[in-house]
Amino acid sequence: MLDQLQALPADPILGLAAAARADTRAEKVDLTVGIYMNEQGICPVFDAVRDAQAALAADETTKAYLPAAGVADFNTGMQELLLGADHVALQDKRVSSVSAPGGCGALRIGAEIIHAAAPGATVWVSDPTWPVHLPLLGSVGLQFSSYRYYDPSSHGVNFDAMVEDLKQAGAGDVVLLHGCCHNPCGADLTLEQWGVVADMAAAQGFLPFIDIAYQGMGDGLDADAAGLRLLAERLPEMIVAGSCSKNMGLYRERTGVTLFICRDRDNAQALVSQALVAARRIYSMPPAHGALIAGRILADAQLGEAWRTELLQMCERINGLRSTLRQKLESACDRDFAFIEKEKGMFSFLGLSAEQAVRLREEYAVYMLNSSRINVAGVNAGNIDYLAESVAAVL
Ligand code: LMR
Repeated sequence: MLDQLQALPADPILGLAAAARADTRAEKVDLTVGIYMNEQGICPVFDAVRDAQAALAADETTKAYLPAAGVADFNTGMQELLLGADHVALQDKRVSSVSAPGGCGALRIGAEIIHAAAPGATVWVSDPTWPVHLPLLGSVGLQFSSYRYYDPSSHGVNFDAMVEDLKQAGAGDVVLLHGCCHNPCGADLTLEQWGVVADMAAAQGFLPFIDIAYQGMGDGLDADAAGLRLLAERLPEMIVAGSCSKNMGLYRERTGVTLFICRDRDNAQALVSQALVAARRIYSMPPAHGALIAGRILADAQLGEAWRTELLQMCERINGLRSTLRQKLESACDRDFAFIEKEKGMFSFLGLSAEQAVRLREEYAVYMLNSSRINVAGVNAGNIDYLAESVAAVL
């Protein structure tokens, strides 16, 4: 039976990351997977994470199962982190949440809930979107339509086209939005544009489903969540998938949360029971370690402050890299790269063809996705000149 199965091609992101890891050329530049790298090219452990982890190891008395909804401090802390502690939806007690295995698990639980409420519902996804959205949500049985989003000629959001397309999304449809730091393009909505989306959702009745995996990596924790907070103020219902992979560096710990913002408290609780049944048939309960660490950081003023400071430094470093990369590319290539400075978070499309991306890989050991998406946080003082020269060479 099993011998009929053939090997599948590698994942377009993780496969390239593995190829980069295996490349032994000294000049190698790995800009593939969305992992924050410091100046030394290392994905660091936050000091606050190290401290919380040490305290956890000292205190932990059992490895028995957690309650199925996950770590209570983590769930509450994430509600406040995402919505802001005094958000009206929290005051109205119409928010609930469950811990999930990373942002992917959070998205999957959101998709399960949508499918339970509206089997086979259509999810509108941005063009382009993170490619994993499709199998992650589609394998639950949801259908897809896409809305125009990124305009390669302006390197920004084509908001008029987005609005035009989303006019077709009605009650029973879901619109998947990137909360901030759009993956893959780095081009975000302005707060005013979020307001237009909120008005459309209110008038047309579609359900927003927000994937916010990069809160704190664009303009800061509060500014990055402003769009989703606005939607949660104005709309009766929405789902949010949050993650601590990037903003706490807990990538391998799979630390995510699904938030349900509902019409009332009873419905919010009902959705938790639905989520627990969905989780039970997939993985039973979420992993504990990352959520216990994040829960401590979010509940402890001192750890929380240390974490926020370190995250802000990362965010400032990425924004600084964006400016320097723009300058280096413009002096090497005689092309306008101003867009790199305007975008948010880890990603940017450099605007190269797939052939050029392949040449960069093969001839220069510079690894980016075929779409020319780069992880800006993989750039550092040691590789930036070589990167700019290599890009100039293939252009
Ligand atoms: C990425 O887009 O590189 C990250 O979200 C990591 C992943 O799993 O794809």
